[in-house]
Amino acid sequence: MSTQRRTVLAALVAAGLPLHKALAADKIVLGFAQVGAESEWRAANTQSVKDSAKEAGIELKFADAQQKQENQIKAIRAFIAQKVDVIAFSPVVATGFGPVLREAKAAKIPVILSDRSVDEKDDSLWVSFMGSDFTEEGRRAGRWLVEKMKGSKDTVNIVELQGTTGSAPAIERKKGFEEIISADPKFKIIRSQTGDFTRAKGKEVMEAFLKAEGKKINVLYAHNDDMAIGAIQAIEEAGLKPAKDITIISIDGVKGAFEAMMAGKLNVSVECSPLLGPQLMQAVKDLKAGKTIPKRIVTQEGVFPMEVAAKEFPNRKY
Ligand code: AHR
Repeated sequence: MSTQRRTVLAALVAAGLPLHKALAADKIVLGFAQVGAESEWRAANTQSVKDSAKEAGIELKFADAQQKQENQIKAIRAFIAQKVDVIAFSPVVATGFGPVLREAKAAKIPVILSDRSVDEKDDSLWVSFMGSDFTEEGRRAGRWLVEKMKGSKDTVNIVELQGTTGSAPAIERKKGFEEIISADPKFKIIRSQTGDFTRAKGKEVMEAFLKAEGKKINVLYAHNDDMAIGAIQAIEEAGLKPAKDITIISIDGVKGAFEAMMAGKLNVSVECSPLLGPQLMQAVKDLKAGKTIPKRIVTQEGVFPMEVAAKEFPNRKY
């Protein structure tokens, strides 16, 4: 039990409340509607939320939407019916959450967007959005490529594995990457398709790209590490050398990506931290204490090329 909670409990008991009533009165309940279990990143994010809730003494009601928006909406409605103190969720897609967010607001339950944002004009529907700047991640990926290909006038044919269609990271990582590479016409995205952020889909779509374009492909830009890892398998099965015949850029910086970089199969991973649990729990406590929390909390992240992978690997926490 945290020192802060001990102090609150002691005060309630000192004010004459029996211990069991003090425990109930002091409890904070958080409803968290997770996207699913589509990637190594997501598994680390779920773990971070669960561990931090336990550490903070917050009761967590956890729902896994299995990458389906309707499941997530159902879970949020159930949290409203259960009158939880705070609702947090990572939206599967960016649009379509307006009605349920308005229901939460009408019930006076604060909502925190964790990891992903929603495309809604009325920003009074959530109290805070904490997570990465996905557009900047896309830009970082683009800048790394521009730097790597600097000095060459040859056309660079790029295939792109997009994340889940309609999700904030897929939309914004595409936008940020294109913003940078569009400054030089030698960069051409010749194929772009969703791999739904999973290894299996990443492999399947890369197989189709290879079938259609073969050795024309110079670069793979994958919106997450899992799709890149699936694609690496497809590239090897096609008799090509990943990170040599095809330059591979991905996003997340999970341990699986570091292992691929150390094996010489992935060129670079742009970091996206899933360790949002501690700041989420702090925000929940602050809200419960009547404090105002920042509307936007941006996660600080770096870029890890294969040359630094072995040195950085022991420091990786996910
Ligand atoms: O929203 C974050 C993204 O979702 C991660 O980059 C990806 O791996 C996950 O599935």
